[in-house]
Amino acid sequence: MSEVQFSKEGNVGIIFVNNPPVNALSQAVRAGIEDGVKQGIADKDVEAMIILCGGNTFIAGADIREFGKPPMPPNLPDVVYAMEDSPKPMIAAIHGNALGGGLEIALSCHFRIAVPTAKVGLPEVKLGLLPGAGGTQRLPRIAGVKVALDMIVSGDPIPAQKAKDLGIIDEIADGDLKAAAVAFAKRVVAEKRPIRKVREMVAKVDSPTQFEDFAKSIARKQRGFHAPFKCIEAIRAAVELPFDEGMKREREIFTSLREGTQSKAQRHVFFAEREVVKIPGLSDKLPIRDIKIVGILGAGTMGGGIAMCFANAGIPVRLLDMKQEFIDRGLGVIQKNYANTMARGGITQADMDQRMALIKPTLSYDDLKDVDLVIEAVFEDMAVKKEVFAKLDAVCKPGAILASNTSYLNIDEIATATKRPQDVIGMHFFSPANVMRLLENVRGAKTADDVKATVMKVGKKIGKVPVMVGVCDGFVGNRMLGKRTRECGFLLEEGALPTQVDKVIFDFGFPMGPYAMSDMAGLDVGWRNRKAKFNELTKREQDNNILDKICEMGRYGQKTGSGFYKYDEKRNATPDPFIEELIIKHSQERGITRRVITDQEILERALYIMINEGAKILEEGIAARPVDIDAVYLYGYGFPAYHGGPMFYADTVGLKNIYEAILKYRDIVGAEYWTPSPLLEKLAKEGKGFYS
Ligand code: 3HC
Ligand code: NAI
Repeated sequence: MSEVQFSKEGNVGIIFVNNPPVNALSQAVRAGIEDGVKQGIADKDVEAMIILCGGNTFIAGADIREFGKPPMPPNLPDVVYAMEDSPKPMIAAIHGNALGGGLEIALSCHFRIAVPTAKVGLPEVKLGLLPGAGGTQRLPRIAGVKVALDMIVSGDPIPAQKAKDLGIIDEIADGDLKAAAVAFAKRVVAEKRPIRKVREMVAKVDSPTQFEDFAKSIARKQRGFHAPFKCIEAIRAAVELPFDEGMKREREIFTSLREGTQSKAQRHVFFAEREVVKIPGLSDKLPIRDIKIVGILGAGTMGGGIAMCFANAGIPVRLLDMKQEFIDRGLGVIQKNYANTMARGGITQADMDQRMALIKPTLSYDDLKDVDLVIEAVFEDMAVKKEVFAKLDAVCKPGAILASNTSYLNIDEIATATKRPQDVIGMHFFSPANVMRLLENVRGAKTADDVKATVMKVGKKIGKVPVMVGVCDGFVGNRMLGKRTRECGFLLEEGALPTQVDKVIFDFGFPMGPYAMSDMAGLDVGWRNRKAKFNELTKREQDNNILDKICEMGRYGQKTGSGFYKYDEKRNATPDPFIEELIIKHSQERGITRRVITDQEILERALYIMINEGAKILEEGIAARPVDIDAVYLYGYGFPAYHGGPMFYADTVGLKNIYEAILKYRDIVGAEYWTPSPLLEKLAKEGKGFYS
């Protein structure tokens, strides 16, 4: 069956698009729509046409998989021109999502009708693009410049009713969409309603400085991204240029963005989020375990956040801690978090009540008898974890999944405390657990396949990006981060200061640099880890004791008012000359002659050390694919989406360049730290990348 079919109902031509799963505008669909329009125009019995889609949705946009390939005619702008130029009324009949090119198709129709649950939007900006088939020219004409700026620059869709209020949609359909759209078309014909072309409307600014003001208002949030600012430029063209010239301008910007690295990276991110869920070698038809009730152990920082994730998805939770006071404290934090979301308008009082009611606190393991999944988030101590897992083994029903939220501990060792290692797995959430989207699921050596498949599905259900990884110290994310932390520590000794390191990492696009981040998380956490692992450290790492010196003074970061930086009562950071002197003195004591370190060296050492570790992680099979590592960094560590994740970024730099830099730093820092991974070396020598 072809992707687009033409049929008739009385005097109404129906262009029916059926290109699962989301009716993306592939070449065949574009050509099919164009043919359909021609057919309808040529057919003397047809007096109006509707464009309608099969499946769950209207057209969700251009076919993103076609970007990067040679363009194939007809191009979308020509198709939308052809629709708008039809002498017979064209009506878009929208259900599901009309997104990107889909909304552009709809805006080139003369009327739009939608079911109440439909959504419309122009999300191209999230792919590092702008709407490239007239969206930036037609939306400000039909809905005003302010609405166009908000919708195009945020990329967020709006519901049908709101779209109707804004004039984007003409009618909300009651009942069957096809019947309503055909009836609407017949009415248009009967009433001889004039054809209304959006391109003939006029877009006006609300104030002379509207574009500049808007650009300023998004500067902070959109730092580093090109597309949002280019969207503003294109919308400006809708106001300042005649329609056809505006279209040309839009196309030029669209093409240059599409060919740029940022959009390639952001498209990679779009597919990465969807790909990581599929575990290689595991059939997606594998029956999964039914998760109806979840037990959570520990009502602390993580346990509370994890409980919220499940309650938000409507899944009942039993939250266990050792003492009533810990439960009360945990529930208090959850309540406060919900109240804050409610104050910001994110949820209603009824939502909050419903979610709180789903979280049942308990002090007794007996209450975990009937749970289908338990996630343990007690203290990070192997003895405690084992004790807890032994108790769970005794009480939980057969088939229940026993998961640990441990950040570093060995899942296989934890599993030995049970008689059911096949049911044991890691589910590593990130702090704050109710906000951060990454979920590192850690498979043990004996974890059953259906347990792995289940935790991936559960992760998706609660809105996370679940990534499957293997057991090693720190798993994927913290293992790679540990290398960056060490390298930055060396940079401080060799001549850099925290402010310089932080600025380089911030300017690359991370939300904050390593020292600002450590101060926020609390320096005592890293200090405790360092002490626990001190004997495993190299001599240089042991001697690099700047963190010890800072913590010994009681400076634990933001929570104590000082750490690497000084903080005021609002937690604004300022560099601390005392710490800078401490670092300089440290270098002297260690006999290191400080030198000027360039920003480029900082960037390379901080990032390439992680990329090299990422390559080792791939070699060891801890992550199955580079995309898994990228997703970990994008969703758990604030890696800038426009760089696509560390492994994608490595490919954009070129593995050969990275390999050569690694050899250079091996000479400066030492082979102990900078030996290229054999995989990276091989790919570099073959002229390949992680993805090519
Ligand atoms: N092109 C190609 N494939 C697409 C696609 C697109 N525009 N949109 C979704 N897909 C694929 C997904 O990769 C996924 O494939 P998989 O099953 O192999 O993993 C499948 O369709 C289903 O997608 P989701 O898992 O995301 O399904 P959901 O039901 O959760 O969400 C959706 C549906 C809201 C439509 C979501 O897929 C989405 O937001 N899609 C992207 C929309 C978009 O960005 N449109 C603009 C494209 S750019 C454009 O139009 C340029 C124009 O201005 C010229
Ligand atoms: P926390 O100290 O805030 O909370 C731990 C809670 O567990 C406390 O309420 C404590 O009373 C309770 N608890 C301790 N032993 C218990 C037992 N035997 N039975 C029942 N409850 C018990 O700790 P946090 O930060 O929530 O960490 C928990 C786990 O999550 C650790 O394994 C940690 O490594 C991991 N983790 C922590 C992250 C973070 O940023 N804080 C991030 C990701 C994982």
